[in-house]
Amino acid sequence: MTLNIRGYAAQSATTALAPHAFTRRDPRADDVVIDILYCGVCHSDIHLARNEWNVSVYPMVPGHEIIGKVSRVGSSVTSFKAGDLVGVGCMVDSCQTCESCAEGLEQYCDEGPTMTYNGRDRVDGQVTYGGYSERIVVSQKFVLRIPEKLDVKSAAPLLCAGITTYSPLRHWKVGAGTKLAVVGLGGLGHMGLKLAKAMGAEVSLFTRSPGKEAEARRLGADRVILSTDPAQMKAVANHFDVILDTVPQQHDLNPYLGTLKRDGTHILVGLLGPIEPALHSVPLVRRRRSVVGSLIGGIAETQEMLDFCAEKGVTCDVEIIPIQQINTAYERVLKSDVHYRFVIDMASL
Ligand SMILES: NC(=O)c1ccc[n+]([C@@H]2O[C@H](COP(=O)([O-])OP(=O)(O)OC[C@H]3O[C@@H](n4cnc5c(N)ncnc54)[C@H](OP(=O)(O)O)[C@@H]3O)[C@@H](O)[C@H]2O)c1
Ligand SMILES: [Zn+2]
Ligand SMILES: [Zn+2]
Repeated sequence: MTLNIRGYAAQSATTALAPHAFTRRDPRADDVVIDILYCGVCHSDIHLARNEWNVSVYPMVPGHEIIGKVSRVGSSVTSFKAGDLVGVGCMVDSCQTCESCAEGLEQYCDEGPTMTYNGRDRVDGQVTYGGYSERIVVSQKFVLRIPEKLDVKSAAPLLCAGITTYSPLRHWKVGAGTKLAVVGLGGLGHMGLKLAKAMGAEVSLFTRSPGKEAEARRLGADRVILSTDPAQMKAVANHFDVILDTVPQQHDLNPYLGTLKRDGTHILVGLLGPIEPALHSVPLVRRRRSVVGSLIGGIAETQEMLDFCAEKGVTCDVEIIPIQQINTAYERVLKSDVHYRFVIDMASL
């Protein structure tokens, strides 16, 4: 017995997303069945739908910023019941036994976590399908509770854009007194600004887009630096403790290194691939600076982030779209024309 599901899928790297019928497993004992209300549109969905990371399996149903209502639970589920408002992010399983899993860092699982889509279920070997669909079946271990105080529509992007920026900010101890800069004002970037501000940091934005200053200030930026202007870059030489870089494409990191203080850290979350042009070691060696990476966040930390956002009133700025507009939305994300996350209203399906 399987569940018949409607959704939107890419059939190849070069075809537009289109309606697609598929099946999901009948819930196992520890599974939760979620009727999806909203799903955010992450830039990773575009990378994967178009096979830009050379790992894509088709048909692909993207979507890993999922909010919905529990409609059914398996026999051993104790944490959730029908009617609960819940979320699912980028992962739906992990080995649960390696050192990283034991520490609640499932995203760094030695065997690799099972991703919400384009992954493979650890029990039945079936390809996983994401949130651009009416319903999803997920083990209760990977389901998040959505606090009542959060607005349902704008909470969806917290499940990826939120945790991907929250986790490194916490790991590199961003707080009062930290001088932090975000690179790129898109989905991740706007959450980075808001979260770092809520943590008490002095917050700046590096952008290559001249028109974004007023918006960035509204979102919490104390300072906006046009990264294409050498004079503005020079004005912040040796200034930042932490840079959170959300740029999704290859870009020159070297101009940013000089804006870090001694012992400063440049965190890559946007780029997956070789760094080109190459890093010059002198700015690193002479001031003990680091370039590091970070991947989403663990399940416990994702719940912590959701509770933090509810408490501090941090929300995503979203544009709600019907699923029929998904291909136009992708084109607009690629042009940086989104304020600041598209969220699909799944009732449109
Ligand atoms: N590490 C992780 O766990 C993780 C999790 C989720 C997503 N990601 C990745 O993070 C990246 C960002 O995702 P997103 O959804 O925030 O994307 P997005 O909404 O498209 O935002 C990216 C921003 O980067 C800047 N940018 C874009 N292209 C650029 C270029 N060629 N050179 C310089 N700046 C550029 C733009 O900001 P300005 O106009 O302000 O310059 C743009 O708004 C994606 O690659 C995604 O796959 C990683
Ligand atoms: Zn994402
Ligand atoms: Zn593991």
